[in-house]
Amino acid sequence: MTTRRPLAVVILGAGKGTRMQSNLPKVMHPLLGLPMINWILKTVEGLSPNRVVVVVGRGMNALIDAVKPHETVIQDKQEGTGSALQSAMSALEGFDGDILVLLGDTPLISEDTLNTLIAARQTDKNTGISVLGVELSNPTGYGRLLTDTDGETLLDIREEKDANAEEKSVHIVNTGAFCLDGTKTTAWLDQLNNDNAAGEYYITDLPEIAARDGIKTRVAMVGGSAEVQGCNTRLDLNNLEQAAQTKLRNALIMDGVHMQDPSSVYLYHDTKIAAGAIIEPNVFFGEGVSVAEGVHIKAFSHIEGAFIGKDTVVGPFARLRPGSEIGKEVRIGNFVEIKKSQIGNRSKISHLGYVGDCTMGDDVNFSCGAITVNYDGFQKYQTVIGKGVMVGSNVNLVAPLKLDDGAFIAAGSTITSDVPADALSMTRPETQTREGWAALYRKRMQRNKQK
Ligand code: UD1
Ligand code: CA
Repeated sequence: MTTRRPLAVVILGAGKGTRMQSNLPKVMHPLLGLPMINWILKTVEGLSPNRVVVVVGRGMNALIDAVKPHETVIQDKQEGTGSALQSAMSALEGFDGDILVLLGDTPLISEDTLNTLIAARQTDKNTGISVLGVELSNPTGYGRLLTDTDGETLLDIREEKDANAEEKSVHIVNTGAFCLDGTKTTAWLDQLNNDNAAGEYYITDLPEIAARDGIKTRVAMVGGSAEVQGCNTRLDLNNLEQAAQTKLRNALIMDGVHMQDPSSVYLYHDTKIAAGAIIEPNVFFGEGVSVAEGVHIKAFSHIEGAFIGKDTVVGPFARLRPGSEIGKEVRIGNFVEIKKSQIGNRSKISHLGYVGDCTMGDDVNFSCGAITVNYDGFQKYQTVIGKGVMVGSNVNLVAPLKLDDGAFIAAGSTITSDVPADALSMTRPETQTREGWAALYRKRMQRNKQK
């Protein structure tokens, strides 16, 4: 590989995003739970840039926190993409490499594409700028790239608002990503004016300004439009979320995960699923889930903040809440909820149960309808269940409570004190049986009805 010039990345994110109808700054809107700005930052980190500067608006404190440890500069007045870049230059004084400028509202751009854009800027000495273009069947709203007959040299960029009919018929548009010679950028920016339909300082005027000094702008084209979709409205956000979902699902499928109906599986940006896992339709993954190999997650399960060990079966209709650490070959069946609990290997919680704030050993059978009673209306308490414990059906385990290894809890019991190893514990009224009672009862009732 040829040695690259030092690289600074500037991400423009100061726009309020009025069209999103939201109090959040536009680039803070999440895709699969991760703010748009962090999707770009993740990609940018792959380029190992020397500097990263994010342009934000005044008072956007949540955005400043979200991009940390990266540096932010404040653009006081949102007077356009050119003025946003100008704000960033105060942080880049003396920087003499290339400056990659990205829009915060174009979150799915890929690292390969960015490398192509940077390479285009470095084609020859005379090329001072490269711009990333894409061909769209409907170019409405985008800046049009007006090129020389060769199609590679850019003459000017015309914003929709300023374009005449002939310019509007151009389908090759500006994605918003630029790579600029950092030694000349400040001098070019000084020549911007806001003499245009929007009354803004456009970054898109830089190619024409550079051309006055005989400096060329090259167009690097991106193949598909999916990765350069922008976000101006909530509908755009939904489209981006779909694109991001598809990308993540496809990556997992290619890595050996079997999804029976991928389009019905909701993934979070950080969902980890190992090869050989099977995911049935309509499964939701929230933040922080890691699924080991051979796991089978059945339909309609809702899983957040959970680790699921090798060869475990979950669902259908199971709910794993944050802090669930499930061992190997465990069986978690329908209508079972687990919260902040460790479940030992080969244990079974097969139907209708609640396990919260519990440490459960290996080979436990937690029968139908059994629950941990972990809350007294004020505080939460722990339940500790040893190895090989049998908890019968419909048992209430009132925490704090410890059931030692091998203990046996009879069905229907409400257990309030610790149970030693291998003991039987039960709280249960005696069963009373009256022979013939039911037959007499039915006879009496029939007689009353006939009267
Ligand atoms: C811009 C481009 C257009 C391109 C399109 C691609 C200009 C003048 N136009 O238009 O050619 O086709 O993107 O999506 O550049 N921002 C700031 N400060 C500002 C204004 C904007 O930081 O003062 C940021 C916004 O947060 C946003 C990005 O810049 O992330 C783009 O701004 P936006 O107003 O959406 O530009 P477009 O009109 O879409
Ligand atoms: Ca935009």
